[in-house]
Amino acid sequence: MKVDFYRHSLGEIEKQAIADVLDLVMLSTGNLTAEFERKFAQYLGVSHAIGVMSGTHALELALRGLGIGPGDEVITTPMTFIATANAIQYVGAKPIFVDTELETGLMDVAQVASKINERTRAILPVHLYGALVDMRALRALADQYQLKIVEDCAHCVEGQRDGVGPGQMGDAACFSFYATKNLTCGEGGAITTNDEELATWLRKARLHGMSKGAADRYGSTYQHWDMEFLGYKSNLTNIQAALLLSQLDYLEERRERREVICRRYEKAFSDIKDVSFTIVPDGTRSARHLFTILVNPNRRDLILNNIQAEGVGVTVNYRAIHLLSFYQKTFGFQRGTFPHAEQIGDSTITLPLYPTLSEDAVETVIEAVEKACAQSC
Ligand SMILES: Cc1ncc(COP(=O)(O)O)c(C=O)c1O
Repeated sequence: MKVDFYRHSLGEIEKQAIADVLDLVMLSTGNLTAEFERKFAQYLGVSHAIGVMSGTHALELALRGLGIGPGDEVITTPMTFIATANAIQYVGAKPIFVDTELETGLMDVAQVASKINERTRAILPVHLYGALVDMRALRALADQYQLKIVEDCAHCVEGQRDGVGPGQMGDAACFSFYATKNLTCGEGGAITTNDEELATWLRKARLHGMSKGAADRYGSTYQHWDMEFLGYKSNLTNIQAALLLSQLDYLEERRERREVICRRYEKAFSDIKDVSFTIVPDGTRSARHLFTILVNPNRRDLILNNIQAEGVGVTVNYRAIHLLSFYQKTFGFQRGTFPHAEQIGDSTITLPLYPTLSEDAVETVIEAVEKACAQSC
């Protein structure tokens, strides 16, 4: 590959952070986990952050902690990673999709009310590609119908819309620290909330429902612990936290670099016939997690292959999930149900976007897209 689809930005600072953590007694959840949780919550302007094993498990735990379970419905979007809708089913509830806005790919908030009924318990918006859903409008709707909001913030740590950041208006917000995310430790996740009671439950739920963790138990003299309820094994370790902590200081400057790259892409692709891109809504500072172009759906796969043949790594985020085999089989979805999500899913290609992408590499990507489109005409 001339240009990899993704390269992380971790380097000497993180190597040192890992070396330092090896000198500690506590490799599992401990002081660094607590420090990361405190600083992450502070960065986001929320009261609590609880580190867990993955973004997927963050979603499951948040839903469970808010009391959502069998017989309940949760409204979400089909234009997301499968983890969003899968988590709803892990707690025994049913995902109810609403279509997306064609221009942004975000859940169409105006369609949510039409899906609310007596079984609806929560709304699960996804801040796709780094741009936030209109959380003020969604909160007003949720309050009107007494629904919970769990935000999927896997793509959005650094974003803002109309002065609202991720996690600030939801009952809980779920983050992923998966390998390609803007803030990463390979695998990991977190839940944030302003709800003290939920935070206390989550801290226990991520560790078997135990009243004390290893750091509490062995910090001084041995203390007995109790198991208060049937929890999970999903705690974020000191090793993961050491990697994450050092990146918090670079979030803003790395977002800035991605913003510059996105602006260059947008300028270049405004001039190419047959290529468009999803827009960032007005009043929004996108976290700029992914940059996606939209091409003729009949030629998408050909163009995608041609771009790869030029030595540029690409992927697809996402094919609409209601059309994936499991969702079609389980819920009977058919093509045509969510036309906007389908149109995006059939025509989208994700291009490389990361802070260490050089100016030359960006130009190589643009040329590859131009050439690939010309070849497929
Ligand atoms: C939108 C979205 N939600 C949830 C997840 C799940 O996160 P994880 O891979 O950490 O479980 C991802 C991960 O790719 C994602 O992109």
